[in-house]
Amino acid sequence: MKRFHLSLAVFFGMFLLIACQSNHSKTIGTLSSPEKNITASLFLTDDGQPGYLVKYKNTTVIDSSLFAFDFKDAKPMKSGFMAKDVAFSNYSERWEMPWGEKREVKNEYNEMLVQLAEDTIEGRMMNIHFKVFDDGVGFRFEFPQQKGKDDLTILDEHTQFKLAGDHTTWWIPGDWDIYEHLYNTSRFSEIDALSKRGHESLAQTHIPENAVNTPVTMRTDEGLHISFHEANLTDYAGMTLKIDTENLLMESELVGSDRLGYKVKRQLPFATPWRTIQISESAGGLIESDLIVNLNEPNKLGDIPWFTPMKYVGIWWDMHLGTKTWDYASGNHGATTQYAKDLIDFASENGLRGILVEGWNTGWEHWIGFEDREGVFDFVTPYPDYDLKEVVRYGKEKGVDLIMHHETSAAVRTYDQQLDTAFKLMQSLGIHAVKTGYVGKIIPKGEYHHGQWMVNHYRKVLETAAQYNIAVNAHEPIKATGIRRTYPNAIAREGLRGQEFNAWSADGGNPPEHLPIVAFTRMLAGPIDFTPGIFNLTLKPHKENNQINTTLAHQLALYVVINSPVQMVPDLTQYYEGHPAFQFIRDVPVIWEQSKVLNGEIGDFVTIARRERGSNNWFIGSITDENPRNFSIKLDFLDSEKKYQAIVYKDGKTAHWANNPGAYDIEEKVIGSASTIELSLAPGGGAAISLMEIK
Ligand code: NOJ
Ligand code: CA
Repeated sequence: MKRFHLSLAVFFGMFLLIACQSNHSKTIGTLSSPEKNITASLFLTDDGQPGYLVKYKNTTVIDSSLFAFDFKDAKPMKSGFMAKDVAFSNYSERWEMPWGEKREVKNEYNEMLVQLAEDTIEGRMMNIHFKVFDDGVGFRFEFPQQKGKDDLTILDEHTQFKLAGDHTTWWIPGDWDIYEHLYNTSRFSEIDALSKRGHESLAQTHIPENAVNTPVTMRTDEGLHISFHEANLTDYAGMTLKIDTENLLMESELVGSDRLGYKVKRQLPFATPWRTIQISESAGGLIESDLIVNLNEPNKLGDIPWFTPMKYVGIWWDMHLGTKTWDYASGNHGATTQYAKDLIDFASENGLRGILVEGWNTGWEHWIGFEDREGVFDFVTPYPDYDLKEVVRYGKEKGVDLIMHHETSAAVRTYDQQLDTAFKLMQSLGIHAVKTGYVGKIIPKGEYHHGQWMVNHYRKVLETAAQYNIAVNAHEPIKATGIRRTYPNAIAREGLRGQEFNAWSADGGNPPEHLPIVAFTRMLAGPIDFTPGIFNLTLKPHKENNQINTTLAHQLALYVVINSPVQMVPDLTQYYEGHPAFQFIRDVPVIWEQSKVLNGEIGDFVTIARRERGSNNWFIGSITDENPRNFSIKLDFLDSEKKYQAIVYKDGKTAHWANNPGAYDIEEKVIGSASTIELSLAPGGGAAISLMEIK
């Protein structure tokens, strides 16, 4: 990792309380983004409660919103605060992503640290730290060392986000366990998360309130785009946002623990995660924003040369289609040595570097739907028809790495106890990536996937994995909050309704608009293991009542639209063999020099161009919802000195997600930066383009 330029914070203290914000509050400090479009102000109400406001140009983005905390065994922190000190500084650096959607990241902001103390004998202290970037705002609460207090036990954090209008909102319910929901589009005032209880998923869900999970993204009637999330979720509970439809207000609701009876316990000093508000005039600006990663600590691992970003095949889709099983007892076991070797051959012949094998270890007879899941998986004992060492050896011979699979079935203590043993086995075999899974209700009972206890578990797995040179792709994960910057072995995760739902859900699967929404919501949080690229879109003859609700070209485009350093090539190989469009999957890389969003509207369409890391080749992915669309794609971002061989994989004339998903055309031509490519996307369709430099 190279750091380009580090201009140390220019510090100028400011100790004065400034003018009045409104009748009932006084402004403590105001701060603007480097380009001055965004301003954030912190104020104290008449009775000393802290709050803030955010503006974009002259428009209010967040109206007066308040902060408070409830504690166990201590009175709430709410009113009675005085400002002790306000300090301003600014910061500018460039840092490098070891892999990702771009190489160089600009990290530039102005910041304000406000020190508050209660005007009481106790005089409890809390600092509020604001950072204002050109792409949004982050703030967090810092609890300093203070007399008479060693730790804090938080019952809840009450951070408000008061909206300035009834914005169009793309949301999923505030679920304490999973993010595997379809996105809803409604006015903010019409959000009704409780109606989404009882939805189908491999994990069970807990939705206690009319609340939403983050990122939640909105568009104002004036066309401003705003997305709310959190960054650097470390040793704290995940944040959902309670919805007050009448007052157009969101308030943080931390994920709890029924077992412990509080939500967060921390020793002093500590800081909460950053609460983030991304702001952009264009929808695409949200995707280009680096706010979330910038609000995380720099890389703690340094270079991780042992991790190879890769496309990977797997013994996986078979199980979701029902053509094979994870368990051995069925007599139709998927994870056999021979099947793994066949897939390794296929991967090797097609330049794919990885293979995932699920169902390789004993325990799958008893993994889902059972209460007593502790001790079922041991992560080291293969089924008798799977020779782990031989598969690894054969893979190495063919240049294909095994991705280990650890399904914990949410028996977290079992996994915790086995972690070193499991990783030691991987290390001894030279395996450098693991896909983890947490299907089902967390054991111990009363914990949730997004509570503090689990946040710490997921982090422990990541840190332990790093010690063994292992990268982690978690399913049923903790939500992404930019930790990949600090721990670049956090390569990808699920945490959304993935492709698998199309194979078995009874609700019709993911609609065509799914990814055109995901790109502007879930994807803002970080890389996604979605498993795009199904070619047998009707799923016949395996699943008569399910299908993939997009065209083939849409599936190809997802390799560019979705950001992830590991991308699966999941379909049964018989559907790829001899298929001309498979060439796109062979060619498309997984890490990038730079990325540009060429167009996009949330829930409708998005077109992204990305330049391959270390080359001049560009790739474009364009997807639409159920509506057909025509785009003229200007290629003025290409190097004007160079010529490129363009291969356009597009929807056939009669393509349609519902009744003709497989129709496609391939067109080849030589183009340059003055060229324009005309695209006609079918309903549920897309286009994938490779632009290879002609040398
Ligand atoms: C759910 C994961 O999302 C899926 O990819 C995996 O196959 C199953 N769990 C089994 O671990
Ligand atoms: Ca899942």
